[in-house]
Amino acid sequence: MKKNIAVIEGDGIGPEVTRQSIRVLNTLAETYGHEFEFTYCLMGADAIDKTGNPLPDETIEVCLNSDAILFGAIGHPKYDNDPTAKVRPEQGLLKLRKSLQLFANLRPVTTYPALHYLSPLKPKAIDGVDFVIFRELTGGIYFGKKETSPEGNWAIDECTYSQEEIERIAHLAFQTAQRRKKKLTLVDKANVLETSRLWRKFVQAMASQYSDVQVDYLFVDNAAMQIILNPKQFDVILTENMFGDIISDEASVITGSLGLLPSASIGKGSALFEPIHGSYPQAAGKDIANPLGSILSTALLLEHLNLNTEAMLVREAVNWSLQNGFVTKDIDPVNFYFTSTIGELICDYVSGKIPGSIKQENIELRKSTII
Ligand code: IPM
Ligand code: MG
Repeated sequence: MKKNIAVIEGDGIGPEVTRQSIRVLNTLAETYGHEFEFTYCLMGADAIDKTGNPLPDETIEVCLNSDAILFGAIGHPKYDNDPTAKVRPEQGLLKLRKSLQLFANLRPVTTYPALHYLSPLKPKAIDGVDFVIFRELTGGIYFGKKETSPEGNWAIDECTYSQEEIERIAHLAFQTAQRRKKKLTLVDKANVLETSRLWRKFVQAMASQYSDVQVDYLFVDNAAMQIILNPKQFDVILTENMFGDIISDEASVITGSLGLLPSASIGKGSALFEPIHGSYPQAAGKDIANPLGSILSTALLLEHLNLNTEAMLVREAVNWSLQNGFVTKDIDPVNFYFTSTIGELICDYVSGKIPGSIKQENIELRKSTII
């Protein structure tokens, strides 16, 4: 199979984790006889430094013509504490989402028994947690009218949603629930917001088309509590842009490591795959970042291309590395492996060079030099 993949390495640790995913894709291409052609493009602080623009037109063009997009991370501290900055890295990502109409952001939250001890929640609360958040990504307050008064003493961010925007993502969420545990929870603030009442109205109306799916409604404040109190109750969570941004970060800590969580942003044409961990500038260039979030995003990318066997193999390799303690510093600050070593081990597993039964002691030499 021949596929064109646009690669945006982005900022901070983006380049080094994305590089491990490219290695995994190249290994799979060799093993299964595929051809992946990678086209690199710029976005974020990296793009501002090189071109003055957080999203050059060329990047949009390359992404529109690709079968999938692999993205690393965005953001740089030099912009975070400067509210007056006219150009910001995040503008690039928001514009890309809008230009490619990536209206649905999927964030699966799965726990790994080997990492239970890292979770802030008790093991009995997290064992078997497996849900996915469908966050609307191209509407709401993120993209509403914005204004600051000439005197600078008031500002507006408008929140708008339309029937079409709600229904297209709700269909995807319902269909996913049908393939999973058949439960959908709409998270909103319908006791206060008009837009939330619109979401409820259309989701309620659609429920009869998906009669095998049980639909629940939760106010976002209660949902924030429930995600921590009893995360096992969820299967598919559907929500608008801003609430989804907040609760997906909250949900990500359940697993014990932010570094492991993948995401997919699906649109009408192309789709983009990125780890949810952000640019983590303090770790950039040190070869210590966790590449598994990017590698698991690559598994989602492979599924999107209908390469399901390959996707399963990548997931198996990740499970194998976690179970055997082949982990980066965020997971084990003492006995850790480097970003590039984890990438190499995943490639060796995927290509069959490492039998699943091999144990940590046989790979000791590739460990960090600190010990
Ligand atoms: C995310 C991020 C982005 C968002 C930022 C970087 C603009 O937090 O993907 O969740 O708010 O959507
Ligand atoms: Mg976020």
